[in-house]
Amino acid sequence: MIGRTLRLAMIGCVLVAASVTGLQRAFPPLAGGDPAPDRVELGRLLFFDPVLSADGTLSCAHCHRPDRAMADGRPRARGRNGVVLERNTPTLYNVAFKDRLMWDRRAASLEAQVRLPLFRTEELGADPERLVARLEAIPAYQDRFSAVFGEAISIDRIADAISAFERTLVSQRSRFDRYAAGDRGALTVAERRGLSLFRSLNTRCFECHRLPTFDAPLAIGIGVPSMDPGVAGAGGNPVQTGFFGVPGLRNVALTAPYMHDGSLATLDDVVDFYRKGGGRASGLSAPRVHEHIRAFDIGDDEAADLVAFLGALTDESQRPRVPNSVPSGYPVLEEDS
Ligand code: HEC
Ligand code: HEC
Repeated sequence: MIGRTLRLAMIGCVLVAASVTGLQRAFPPLAGGDPAPDRVELGRLLFFDPVLSADGTLSCAHCHRPDRAMADGRPRARGRNGVVLERNTPTLYNVAFKDRLMWDRRAASLEAQVRLPLFRTEELGADPERLVARLEAIPAYQDRFSAVFGEAISIDRIADAISAFERTLVSQRSRFDRYAAGDRGALTVAERRGLSLFRSLNTRCFECHRLPTFDAPLAIGIGVPSMDPGVAGAGGNPVQTGFFGVPGLRNVALTAPYMHDGSLATLDDVVDFYRKGGGRASGLSAPRVHEHIRAFDIGDDEAADLVAFLGALTDESQRPRVPNSVPSGYPVLEEDS
């Protein structure tokens, strides 16, 4: 009886805490369950191994760097031989929970996405047969593939392993999450004001950047001025010209510069862009600019609060370790922090 009362009291306590904020949401469970550790470890080695590129100069990690919150800090990515690509490198935190990947949403799964940078000449530029042959010639890879998958090395199994690694890149323990769970002191007063603004009908940030990942399974135009056709260029409807997927905002304070083309240098610039009506400020209108993107009137101090709140979404507790060496023997990415 006493046990029962206590248990009820505890449940009550949790409910009270959650209802204080109403912000706590569980991350969706992974479709295939948590990835097996040996698969993740193989994926991690491949992710950091320049053997994946045609000339041994580039790995996934050269653009998705652990010391840059799995992005690269550049406006637009730099591929092999320094060629500047079209788009900004997104973070890989919480990619496990996205319904589609890439700024234009053209990849339907992580497994499918791996093939895009892997085979694109300007990125890793790998040739499927040659890559498999090179990995087969490295005993450490041969052993690991057969231990993990019980079959020969193939592009499918490479993609499986890398995707398993990517699914471990979860960011869900920010100060915001502690606040959402009922710990009011986890956010400063300014950050709490910023959260209210973020959720207000004035800014409407919450309509697209939704709990718990701060993204949404939508293609949206906000009117960042660029010639990029976005979703329309990836088999979408021409009406979706300049539409992009909604990026998640966790760890966003660490992943400047911003937007698909890296054209906004800081979070202050981002808030300024929205405050002036997004693309409406440069003369764009619907459907190019979504109806929820409208100029709103907030003071500079409130804009600063909004930026402060975005800073409370930082959590790198699952930051991956850079391997000391990789089975190919190629030099591994050097981190500067
Ligand atoms: C040359 C830099 C570069 C390399 C190398 C690279 N990426 Fe990327 N990555 C990018 C850019 C740029 C994008 C966005 C491309 C787009 O939207 O068209 C991206 C997008 C992604 C996404 C989608 C993220 C999202 O939120 O939609 C994933 C996942 C990803 N990369 C994983 C990888 C993996 C795995 C590798 C190695 C096989 C890799 N990348 C190699 C630059 C790179
Ligand atoms: C109608 C949907 C919508 C609303 C409302 C919205 N966003 Fe966005 N947000 C997007 C889309 C789509 C992008 C990507 C656009 C692009 O790259 O061209 C984006 C990009 C961003 C980025 C850049 C992320 C990165 O990694 O580059 C930040 C930061 C951001 N939004 C914050 C906000 C804030 C703060 C608000 C409220 C003032 C807000 N958003 C309101 C849809 C929306």
